[in-house]
Amino acid sequence: MGKSSKDKRDAYYRLAKEEGWRARSAYKLLQLDEEFNLFEGVTRVVDLCAAPGSWSQVLSRVLIKGEKFGRAGWQDKQKNMRDYVLGGSGEKKEKEDGGKQEVGVEGEVEKKVEEKPDEKPKPREGVRIVAIDLQPMSPLEGVTTMRADITHPSTIPLMLKALDPDTYDPTHPTRSSPVDLVISDGAPDVTGLHDLDIYVQSQLLWAALNLALCVLKPGGKFVAKIFRGKDVDLLFAQLKIVFERVRVAKPRSSRASSIEAFVVCEGFCPPEGFMASLERPLGAGTVLPQPPKSDDAKSEKKVTSRVREDGAIEIDLGDETDDEDDVEEGGRRWIAPFLACGDLSAYDSDATYHLPKDRVSLDPVQPPTAPPYKRALEMRKLAGGAYGKTKGRAEKAAS
Ligand SMILES: C[S@@+](CC[C@H](N)C(=O)[O-])C[C@H]1O[C@@H](n2cnc3c(N)ncnc32)[C@H](O)[C@@H]1O
Repeated sequence: MGKSSKDKRDAYYRLAKEEGWRARSAYKLLQLDEEFNLFEGVTRVVDLCAAPGSWSQVLSRVLIKGEKFGRAGWQDKQKNMRDYVLGGSGEKKEKEDGGKQEVGVEGEVEKKVEEKPDEKPKPREGVRIVAIDLQPMSPLEGVTTMRADITHPSTIPLMLKALDPDTYDPTHPTRSSPVDLVISDGAPDVTGLHDLDIYVQSQLLWAALNLALCVLKPGGKFVAKIFRGKDVDLLFAQLKIVFERVRVAKPRSSRASSIEAFVVCEGFCPPEGFMASLERPLGAGTVLPQPPKSDDAKSEKKVTSRVREDGAIEIDLGDETDDEDDVEEGGRRWIAPFLACGDLSAYDSDATYHLPKDRVSLDPVQPPTAPPYKRALEMRKLAGGAYGKTKGRAEKAAS
């Protein structure tokens, strides 16, 4: 696919290049922030699976430079709009037009509001941003970048050290200062086999959650990409154990045709006695304290197993399937609210747009530093072009 068709098919791809973002993913985080006000009061953040770095760019510009995007940007625009209208200019224009050209007035207001110089950006104090990815990432102002695998236990001390280089004590890692927000946009290289992709993605999500549990402060937030598979409800219920609010969101910049969505978990509230540890991560054995056993015989789990005719072992986990499962609140089954986010007038990521006549195709803001396909490209070049076919043709033409 040529540059032009991608620009036309994906408005966010083009917009990202125009507005200086390293990837179109930036708009997903900005639209999530519009809905959930993610950055309010936030100074310490870990960005997992961060390359090429558009989410880190958003963090750097909002927290370090003090620029306003997302919710804060929208609130500013609303305020400017109110000031402009209440200042009388809107009324005056309306009178001049005899009140007939309301659309014109709105357009005028929009323009003035956009033109109005913003207040001076207010950088935050004590900001610390750590970005981690398997791939190397080009440097970003104020962001500590690390090349590491988030599924590997050795990443956690590295991350803690990067968060507190001067005070980190490997003998007492729990004394490190916690963070306000952990975000993860982790995605495997998708194969197109949905079940496999969903499984690998869920492993990345677990790894991100386990890292988050080790560094989040009580009340902190966790935002992560998920693939909406058939057992995703179970994941939401599990997240609900350690967060007060769990919601699922689909930003407008995330294609409707994609199974991707984001969990937005707020109000981190680890159960009493909970000790996060990557040696015994959540999901591999019981680390959550058990609730006191009730006298009610019904609540006792009788785990039984039997070997089926086809050789498979079927495990029955006891009383987990009684009617209580269908209770939405208070019962065992819990359904996470699902929200679409991003302004409805924003570009539709599934639509194809006409390009302006005078358009030029821009180069990406930050080409991948070492993409996994780099070696393949080099080999292809050595072979004389597209899988050697070009070379073959060129030689034939020459002879
Ligand atoms: C969709 S991209 C992230 C885009 C990024 N949020 C941005 O705004 O530029 C997904 C990233 O997940 C990373 N990734 C996948 N598995 C990983 C792992 N096990 N550890 C660290 N990063 C991983 C990939 O290298 C890739 O850069």
